Amino acid sequence: MKKIVTIVGARPQFIKAAVISRLIKSEYSENFQEILVHTGQHYDQNMSDVFFDEMQIPRPDINLEIGSGSHGKMTGRMLEKIEDVLVKEDPHFLMVYGDTNSTIAGALAASKLHIPVIHVEAGLRSFNMKMPEEQNRILTDHISNYLFCPTQTAIDNLLKEGITEGVFKTGDIMLDASLYYRKLLKTIESKLSIPQKKFILATLHRAENTDDPEKLNNIISALSESSFPVVLPIHPRTRKMMQNIGVKLSGNVNLIDPVGFFDMLRLETACSMIVTDSGGVQKEAYFFKKPCITMREQTEWVETVESGWNILVGSDKDKILDAINNFKSSEIYPELYGNGNAGQEILDVLLKV
Ligand code: UD1
Ligand code: UDP
Repeated sequence: MKKIVTIVGARPQFIKAAVISRLIKSEYSENFQEILVHTGQHYDQNMSDVFFDEMQIPRPDINLEIGSGSHGKMTGRMLEKIEDVLVKEDPHFLMVYGDTNSTIAGALAASKLHIPVIHVEAGLRSFNMKMPEEQNRILTDHISNYLFCPTQTAIDNLLKEGITEGVFKTGDIMLDASLYYRKLLKTIESKLSIPQKKFILATLHRAENTDDPEKLNNIISALSESSFPVVLPIHPRTRKMMQNIGVKLSGNVNLIDPVGFFDMLRLETACSMIVTDSGGVQKEAYFFKKPCITMREQTEWVETVESGWNILVGSDKDKILDAINNFKSSEIYPELYGNGNAGQEILDVLLKV
């Protein structure tokens, strides 16, 4: 029996961990024991508990209750507390997902204790070192022992940085999650009202957009003037920034609280187009064959752009509106992210090492 300490903390990590934690509890229960540690980076009911409640993710064994703060403070506090957990639990592996502050804190704490680090969603790059996520993912990859990559692009990125050992291509864990939970949609009740006519689903939380008042204003006025109604489940960071700078919304935009994953799947499958700056949502747009307009200058998920399903427009109001009116996705739909078995492939590799 191998013991894994898994670190999660932010919304997309609950969704990714749901896949592997469920597999460990069901098909791999004789091979692995998982200690699930929630750093507390996200803590609102609709940013955290809703995922554990609805998605049958095992409750975290430990919640470090770090909460919000500056990058240094948050990461430093996590590092200290994760180290305590690792010393006590003495696991065979430490598993982290993606590119958040919880990811780098977990990886660093384990690496310094010589505990092998597993990085799921390794090798992604935006080539924009100003992004906290780019810093987190590069540093995490360089101290990881097992790097599970969703795409060949990710493997190539690692190769260019000299990382070749312990690298595996498994497909994207988020595809596993989308396929699995989509099948269960009917089992979860919903209070969400889905517009009956054509609508755009939008999400917005990336620091580069929310923390620059001019960019935030541009984006909100583009959405306000779009030719289709917009449903915008709003990240708490974005709501706070909009309140701080007094951004005005038109009646065209239906601002709602963040939703659970099942309601997000309902919105993603019902909408006619997605406008986002989220990494995960760009891919879900692809999984559900929706044209995607990405309000960033770069994306880590370059295949979605190359295949003609995603367009990068930054925060320029005219570019966003032009894309809403004119962007047509490709007729060709290549399989970019594997077959939805990333979770099993990852655990099968770990069984053998
Ligand atoms: C974090 C990740 C980002 C990821 C996103 C997923 C880092 C550096 N960033 O960004 O990569 O895409 O999570 O959603 O780790 N807040 C609340 N309630 C909460 C959580 C946050 O009110 O439950 C507010 C706080 O004001 C906080 C702000 O949101 O200061 C930002 O939260 P933080 O976790 O620092 O970054 P995210 O923007 O959520
Ligand atoms: N998501 C959700 N509810 C929301 C917004 C997003 O369940 O109100 C899901 C979304 O479907 C995707 C994940 O959260 O699976 C993406 O997380 P987020 O956009 O916060 O972070 P990123 O992927 O950009 O790191």
